[in-house]
Amino acid sequence: MSAKNEKSWQARIGEATDAIAQAFVESMTYDWRLYKHDIAGSIAHATMLARQGLITDDDRDAIVKGLKEIESEIDHDGPKWDGFKPELEDIHMCVESALTQRVGEPGRKLHTARSRNDQVALDLVLWLREATTQVRESLLLLCRAFVKLAEENRDVVMPSFTHLQRAQPIVAGAECLAWATMFDRDVSRLHQIVKQSEEISPLGSGAIAGTSLPINPSIPAGELGFARGPVSSIESTASRDLACDFVYACAMIAQHLSRLAEQWIIYMSTEFGFIRIADRYTTSSSMMPQKRNPDMLELIRGRCGNVYGDLFALMTILKGLPVGYNRDLQEDKRIVFRAFDTVNQCLTMAAAIVNSASFDKDRIRPTLDKGFLDATSLAEYLVTKGIPFRTAHHIVGTLVARCEKEGKDALSQLSVEAFNQVIASTNCNVRVTDDVYTCLGAENVVNRYQSTGAGGGKPFDEQLRAWKKRFGI
Ligand code: ARG
Repeated sequence: MSAKNEKSWQARIGEATDAIAQAFVESMTYDWRLYKHDIAGSIAHATMLARQGLITDDDRDAIVKGLKEIESEIDHDGPKWDGFKPELEDIHMCVESALTQRVGEPGRKLHTARSRNDQVALDLVLWLREATTQVRESLLLLCRAFVKLAEENRDVVMPSFTHLQRAQPIVAGAECLAWATMFDRDVSRLHQIVKQSEEISPLGSGAIAGTSLPINPSIPAGELGFARGPVSSIESTASRDLACDFVYACAMIAQHLSRLAEQWIIYMSTEFGFIRIADRYTTSSSMMPQKRNPDMLELIRGRCGNVYGDLFALMTILKGLPVGYNRDLQEDKRIVFRAFDTVNQCLTMAAAIVNSASFDKDRIRPTLDKGFLDATSLAEYLVTKGIPFRTAHHIVGTLVARCEKEGKDALSQLSVEAFNQVIASTNCNVRVTDDVYTCLGAENVVNRYQSTGAGGGKPFDEQLRAWKKRFGI
């Protein structure tokens, strides 16, 4: 019998692990977060061992009871649980050691036909499945906040921007739905990861080559929500593809959050003044008493850099690994935990900010006529009169230049004669009437949009209706 806390491999390794090496190799201080998944995996494994006659039903019952007690202790104590001993290296050894101390011999049978290599691969997939579901929930809360903001700002007309220059008018609500659409694509990406996490259970792979014992991996696979057990024991213990997919999905979410943060920081500046967020999501300056800074949005933008770093770190760790387990793989946990924590916190923060936001119509309206936002609308109007688009584009460009020369802010300040003069100069037979003013002015323009998904008019109403229906709003 081995003494308390002595490692299971002490028989082979002559001397105790060096203290520096001990602190260096351990992962318990962070992989304790896998405890629920580790215990679920062990219960499923013990269930299979009993069904295959590899342990008795009594052994199984003692194991299951002991593991459930351990789980509720950790639920209660968290990382302070007294079974967490860094000298035991990781969550797997801590739980197994505590189990054996508690239930005796049956605990020593739990690791039959199992290695920490298939055990940790399983734990990680189970953790990723749960984490993905949580991020998905956070994303949906953010989408919902955008739909609410879209509804509240369905009548606010504002410029859209390309090259950060005024482009065409839109309703503010349509821009909110643009963000919702972007984050909804992240939801779909996560959905694929959940589906993937329900495919192959690594448990039953052993250390690399499987086992000579008559196990049945499809039993724990079924218990744990997988379609099947390992297809290749070698591959199952060696790959972290799903972790890469997860961190990539996190990096995409972080990218989207960072773009949102950037846009809103600009919109919150005095120069724009398009958006207000609640003061509780801003801070001030220790020196400049007047300041109201969007620090939370800046941190969301900044933390994207951390998540990109996580993706790069994981991909780089994996690039040199021969097939089969290598201890380098232990580093994957730090990365997925950190990417998850960062992104989930950023999503929660972003949703709170969006829920508190409003568009400042009084700031947007006075400058709405600046920038000839209706120029494209006028060109399209001319197309409906039979003028080829390229010619129409040239006519409107000439009219805009004329406005600028004459100190006019808007195309609607031109007379019907002025429109017709420029049209005539292109040798077109078409002449316009007063009717031309119906396509001018930002408010008129947004109501004229017809194409699916457009930034105003009926297409926007349809988008909003579909989103509201989806969220039962
Ligand atoms: N703590 C290890 C990890 O997270 C578990 C597997 C260790 N296996 C081994 N044979 N050393 O990857």
